[in-house]
Amino acid sequence: MMLKQHLIFILYSLCASVFKGSQGQFPITQNVTVVEGGTANMTCRVDYNDNTSLQWSNPAQQTLFFGDKKALRDHRIELVRATSQELTIRINDVSLSDEGQYTCSLFTMPVKTTKAFLTVLGVPSRPEITGFTKPAMEGDEITLTCITSGSKPAANIRWFRNDKEVQGATEVNATGKSFTVRSSLLFQVDKRDDGVAYTCSVEHVSLYKPYLTTEVLEVHYAPQLEITHSLIIPQEGQYFKLECVSIGNPIPEPVLWSKDGGELPDIERMIVEGRELTITTLNKTDNGTYRCEASNHVGTSFAEYILFVYDPNALGQRGPDHALIGGVVAVVVFITLCLIIVLGRYLARHKGTYLTHEAKGAEDAPDADTAIINAEGNHVHAEEKKEYFI
Ligand SMILES: *[C@@H]1O[C@H](CO)[C@@H](O)[C@H](O)[C@H]1NC(C)=O
Ligand SMILES: *[C@@H]1O[C@H](CO)[C@@H](O)[C@H](O)[C@H]1NC(C)=O
Ligand SMILES: *[C@@H]1O[C@H](CO)[C@@H](O)[C@H](O)[C@H]1NC(C)=O
Ligand SMILES: *[C@@H]1O[C@H](CO)[C@@H](O)[C@H](O)[C@H]1NC(C)=O
Ligand SMILES: *[C@@H]1O[C@H](CO)[C@@H](O)[C@H](O)[C@H]1NC(C)=O
Ligand SMILES: *[C@@H]1O[C@H](CO)[C@@H](O)[C@H](O)[C@H]1NC(C)=O
Repeated sequence: MMLKQHLIFILYSLCASVFKGSQGQFPITQNVTVVEGGTANMTCRVDYNDNTSLQWSNPAQQTLFFGDKKALRDHRIELVRATSQELTIRINDVSLSDEGQYTCSLFTMPVKTTKAFLTVLGVPSRPEITGFTKPAMEGDEITLTCITSGSKPAANIRWFRNDKEVQGATEVNATGKSFTVRSSLLFQVDKRDDGVAYTCSVEHVSLYKPYLTTEVLEVHYAPQLEITHSLIIPQEGQYFKLECVSIGNPIPEPVLWSKDGGELPDIERMIVEGRELTITTLNKTDNGTYRCEASNHVGTSFAEYILFVYDPNALGQRGPDHALIGGVVAVVVFITLCLIIVLGRYLARHKGTYLTHEAKGAEDAPDADTAIINAEGNHVHAEEKKEYFI
C-alpha cells in the first residue's frame, strides 16, 4: 500500500517535471526595429533550461553564435550575454541589408526555433529643393522640386508656403532597398510671391523631428505707382505736396514728374525731391494733370493726379464743404421765413387768424435752429397758400 502510493507519487513527479520542462523549454524572442547605422540587440530567452545550447542565425541561415562561441566572421556582431537561460547578441552599425528574419534555436530533441524580425529603418537624406530661378519674373511658370533619398519606408514630403501648407505632386521610386521621394510644386509666379519662403518638410519614422529646407523666392516685377496728396481741397496760396508711392522689384528709381504731358514749369514754388513734388504756394495756374513715371528692367508705369486749385473766395458756391452748404441752406431758410412773416402780416390784415398757424414754427421753437427746422416743414404750405391768395 505504502509502496504503491510512493510509486504513484514518483510517477506523478516525473510526469510533472517532464511536462514542466517541455513547456518551459521554449525560446522566446522579440522583433527588433533599429535605425540604419544603429545597434540591434537580439535577445533569446528560455525560462527553464537544462543546459541545452542556444543559437542565433541570420536570415541567410548562417549561424552567428552557438552559445558563447562566435560562428560567423563579422566584426559588427558581438556577444552580449550567454547563460543557460539567455543568448543575447549585438549587431553594430546595422545596414539595410541586415534586415530579415533571425532565428533562435534551442537544441532539444527535436530542435525548437523562434523567429525575430529585424526591421532596419532607412534615414532620409536632408531635402534638397531645385527649380529656383533667382530671380523669377512675374508671370513665369516655375516648378519647385524637393528630393530626399535613402528612406525606408518611403518618407513623407510636405510643402509650406510661408507657414501655410500647399499640396505638391509626390512620386516615390525604389532605389535598392530604400526609396527616393520627390515632390513638385508647379505654379505661376506672382509679385505676391516676392520674399515668400517655400519650405519642404521631410517626415519619417526614423526622425525625431522633420528635416526642413527653405528657399526664399525673389520675384522681379514691373513698378506700380500711386500718387498721394496732402490736401483734399487745394486752395490758392496753400502749401501742397504730392507723393509718388511706388512698389516694384528692383525698386523703380528715379521717379520722373511731368505736368500736362510736358516738363514741370520752371518756377521756384515747385520743388521736386525724389518721390515728392511740393508746391509751396498754390496758384490757379498750377491746375493740370501731374504724372509720375518710373521704370525698372521689367517695365515702366505711371500714375496721374489732376490738380484743381480752388479759389478760396469762390468756395462758397463750389466747395463740397458741408459746413458751407449748411450755411447756405440756413440763409435760404431764413429769407423764406422772413418772406412768410411779411406775407403773413400782409394776409393778417386781410384775414384775421391765419397768421398764428403759419408762424407757429418760429414762435414755439426754443432756439433759432429749431425754429428754422419747424419753419422748413411749414413754408411749403406757406408757398401754396401764398399762391392761393395771390
Ligand atoms: C543593447 O544591449 C546593451 C547591453 O545590454 C545595452 O547597453 C544597450 O542599451 C542595448 N541597446 C538597445 C538598442 O537595446
Ligand atoms: C548545467 O551545467 C553546469 C556546469 O556546466 C552545472 O553546474 C549545472 O548543474 C547544469 N544545470 C543543469 C540544470 O543541468
Ligand atoms: C514580427 O515581425 C513579423 C514580420 O514583420 C511579423 O509577421 C510578426 O507578427 C511580428 N511578431 C511580433 C510579435 O510582433
Ligand atoms: C521613377 O519611376 C518612374 C517610372 O516608374 C520614372 O518615370 C521616373 O523618372 C522615376 N523617377 C526617378 C526620380 O527615378
Ligand atoms: C498766381 O500767379 C499769377 C501769375 O504768375 C500771379 O499774378 C498771381 O498773383 C498769383 N496768385 C497768387 C494767389 O499767388
Ligand atoms: C484753374 O481752376 C480754376 C477753378 O478753381 C479756374 O477758374 C481756372 O480757370 C483754372 N485755370 C487754368 C489755367 O486752367
